Amino acid sequence: MAPTPVWRRTPRFGGAWRLGVAALLFAVAACSGAVSPDRGDARPGQAAIASPHPLATRAGQEVLEAGGNAFDAAVAVSAALAVVEPFGSGIGGGGFFLLHRAEDGHQVMVDARETAPGEATRDMYLDDDGQPIPRLSQDGALAAGIPGLPAALVHISERYGRLPLADVLAPAIRHAEDGFEAYERMILGLRFKEDLMRESDAVSAVFFPEGRMPEPGDLIRQTDLAQTLRTLARDGHDGFYRGPLAETLVEGVRAKGGIWSLEDFAEYRVIERAPDVIEYGDARIVAASLPSSGGVVLSIVLNILDGFDLDALSEPERHHLVIEAMRRGYRDRALYLGDPDFTDIPHARLTHPLYAAGLRAAIRRDRAMPSDLLPGIAAGDESPQTTHYSVIDADGNRVATTQTLNFWYGAGVMAPGTGVMLNNEMDDFSTKPGVPDGFDLVTAEANAIAPGKRMLSSMTPTFVESPRGVAILGTPGGSRIITMVLLGTLAFLDGRDADEIVAMRRYHHQYLPDRVSHERGAFSEEIATALEAKGHELAESGRDFGNLQLVMWEYNGNRVSAASDPRNESGDAQVY
Ligand code: GLY
Repeated sequence: MAPTPVWRRTPRFGGAWRLGVAALLFAVAACSGAVSPDRGDARPGQAAIASPHPLATRAGQEVLEAGGNAFDAAVAVSAALAVVEPFGSGIGGGGFFLLHRAEDGHQVMVDARETAPGEATRDMYLDDDGQPIPRLSQDGALAAGIPGLPAALVHISERYGRLPLADVLAPAIRHAEDGFEAYERMILGLRFKEDLMRESDAVSAVFFPEGRMPEPGDLIRQTDLAQTLRTLARDGHDGFYRGPLAETLVEGVRAKGGIWSLEDFAEYRVIERAPDVIEYGDARIVAASLPSSGGVVLSIVLNILDGFDLDALSEPERHHLVIEAMRRGYRDRALYLGDPDFTDIPHARLTHPLYAAGLRAAIRRDRAMPSDLLPGIAAGDESPQTTHYSVIDADGNRVATTQTLNFWYGAGVMAPGTGVMLNNEMDDFSTKPGVPDGFDLVTAEANAIAPGKRMLSSMTPTFVESPRGVAILGTPGGSRIITMVLLGTLAFLDGRDADEIVAMRRYHHQYLPDRVSHERGAFSEEIATALEAKGHELAESGRDFGNLQLVMWEYNGNRVSAASDPRNESGDAQVY
């Protein structure tokens, strides 16, 4: 695996500089075969898909070959992943879809995050003494929010796609009906959740065929799920959210102690939101906005780093500053962020360069700031499962999607007769908000449970746009998602190629616990010693971080490339 890269910060150009650079790029482009988006006629001419499973990548390819665009391909990949990666995401879950339409530059985030059911209450996971009841927000039907993924598939297909929904869902339906081969990672998840999943006959019938743990190569067939997808393909949004299928889902969930209702289903809508846009040097980073925390945290971190001359620093000094910026971004994530439709979030302040300048001023170059001198709260636990894919088509339409059921196989239960695994996304709310912490701060109110509200997420589908070209990236990984996207972004801006970026060793700081968790090999001995001398506690993790999926379009040579994280044995990145 590649070591952590040493990145160089690209310089920030003012207006005149920017014009000059654009003119220079244009001139170079004209003589060298490079393309320039400033000419308006630039298109990659090739498509690419990076996804964590070959059947999902192929589903997207099939749809592109049938005349679909990147948005059609994205719907096909999403639905296929919901079938062949049932531990990471599903029709019973949600996600964020970041879209770029080439013809007019329209950029939007389709927010398909789950919502809290109408009967949800702020203290629903607490006992009579006000203490969280272990696992109630993670296991079983009460942990499930109202799914958003089906609504997103229909919305994106109808509003942005070229092909009929039935055509783009066809590969997923085929894989559900005919089955896909079990593989190590999905079996690992089954082992982890086995006791809970075996309690449900519907789940056991699918995932423990003939009553036993599947082996690699065994066929996993999901005939009920195939029927659910057919209903969605035929009847669109209302096929899932109203009528017989919705009734079966709601009845099944309530029979298992859940609180879904038909009203919740009738009210569910995706929301089109403006993504967060961050100016960093001469790059523009477009990232998922609230209720994803990704865009805001990336804004804080990159705005802090934008004020340092990283080029002039040694490698340990750069890592030190990145870690200090991460610390501050995650502190603010836990303190301030939640569903913007329910809480006043100080978004403009948090994302303002002057706010970052204030944070930067308090960073010492020689010492780590202990987190307990920086009042705030710790983020809750988040699942490292979830999934991501990236797509570009030959016209330059792009999609970055991160979607999830939350922890392995979500809540571990299924609504019988539907094949729909329930998410356990309710766990992403603060289950015990408003309790003063050690600093007497009343915290995490912004992410308290309320009916109809969307729980805060770390999923960060992202576009990086720079004079070099465009990167489309994202990863699963719970709270580490944002720092992985950050390191990937910096590496792209440093000129690294796609294979290097997905392979590089990763590190992470999230304010509390106050330590730098890192993969083996993320730091050389010399760098580790230098960071420790500044007061950083380094903690090597026994686990790999993430499953990054990256597509790049470089203007020089008009080159499209794609790479899938080598940590995942089944990832599949293709250029067509
Ligand atoms: N459930 C993982 C996330 O939304 O970040």
